[in-house]
Amino acid sequence: MLTTIPGPCYAQLNERLVASIEESVTAVSSPISPGTHDSLDVAAKRLRALSAAHSSGSQGKPAIRLDGVTHYFVSQNQAARVVDDISFEMPAGQFLAIVGPSGCGKTTVLNMIAGLVSPSVGHVWRNGSPVAETGRDIGYMLARDSLLPWRTAQANIEMGLEVRDVPRASRRVTAERLLNALSLRGLGELYPSQLSQGMRQRVALARTLAYEPAFLLMDEPFAALDAQTRLMVQAEFIRVWEGTGTSVVFVTHDLEEAVVLADRVMVFSARPARILLDIMVPLTRPRSVESARYGEEFDRTHREIWRHLRDEVVRASA
Ligand SMILES: Nc1ncnc2c1ncn2[C@@H]1O[C@H](COP(=O)(O)OP(=O)(O)OP(=O)(O)O)[C@@H](O)[C@H]1O
Ligand SMILES: [Mg+2]
Repeated sequence: MLTTIPGPCYAQLNERLVASIEESVTAVSSPISPGTHDSLDVAAKRLRALSAAHSSGSQGKPAIRLDGVTHYFVSQNQAARVVDDISFEMPAGQFLAIVGPSGCGKTTVLNMIAGLVSPSVGHVWRNGSPVAETGRDIGYMLARDSLLPWRTAQANIEMGLEVRDVPRASRRVTAERLLNALSLRGLGELYPSQLSQGMRQRVALARTLAYEPAFLLMDEPFAALDAQTRLMVQAEFIRVWEGTGTSVVFVTHDLEEAVVLADRVMVFSARPARILLDIMVPLTRPRSVESARYGEEFDRTHREIWRHLRDEVVRASA
């Protein structure tokens, strides 16, 4: 079966994203102490969260599974293969980064995991169930924030919780915790137009984290940020995420970002995407994103990824 997405994919994605946010608030966040840097505390929380994630219905099944996934897009009566026989499994709570040349099929794979695109061949599972559509358990983040301009930062963060009838006081607590953790203290009453790009992206991140989705799908979420802001947001994101047990699939062009953030990195080939390398990152958790990039493990992993990616980038741009 050949499948195509009519019209611009992102328009459809945004529409479904809002619908998914409205549906996807499953519970009031269990609070993580804001700004905590105590490694043992974070490690204990992560262990508890991971064990909860494992025991909550998935019964040891991989959080995400792709089996023989191939995808074609059809345009002008021509079928173009963009994904070629991809199979992998990912346990709950893992942070997987995907890198690959531009146009190779990364977003398409993310959209298949989200249920926005059905594979032409093969199957995708989330928590042991075949993916048929976007679920209540997904948070999806893009490079450009999709904040509602008529809502304050705080009201944007509370949006998902509000739709789910979480009491006002609990919404406030969650929003304030995330505003503090993401260096937005005191900015909750400002509107998106009054915020910088970095601040808006932090608010979008807080909005996604507020409803604690089981899966966080991120498509170059920090790509629009300047280099220094990106470093800050990466570190803040990891500090908040490390307590949650959320499974993350994170697409990026930035190899350094992939290594310092992820537990595992996959390198895709030039189109059609195949898995060229699937490597675990030998850096421990909790992890300091600031210092993770200085060390032999980082250098070795970075070099290995680039060794596999380099020829593909050349091939893709030829
Ligand atoms: N809805 C669609 N209809 C037809 N072709 C599409 C559609 N969406 C994507 N494509 C094509 O599929 C290929 C893979 O696109 P995709 O967006 O998955 O790549 P990508 O790896 O995310 O690229 P980038 O790094 O530039 O974001 C591209 O050649 C693109 O033109
Ligand atoms: Mg893309």
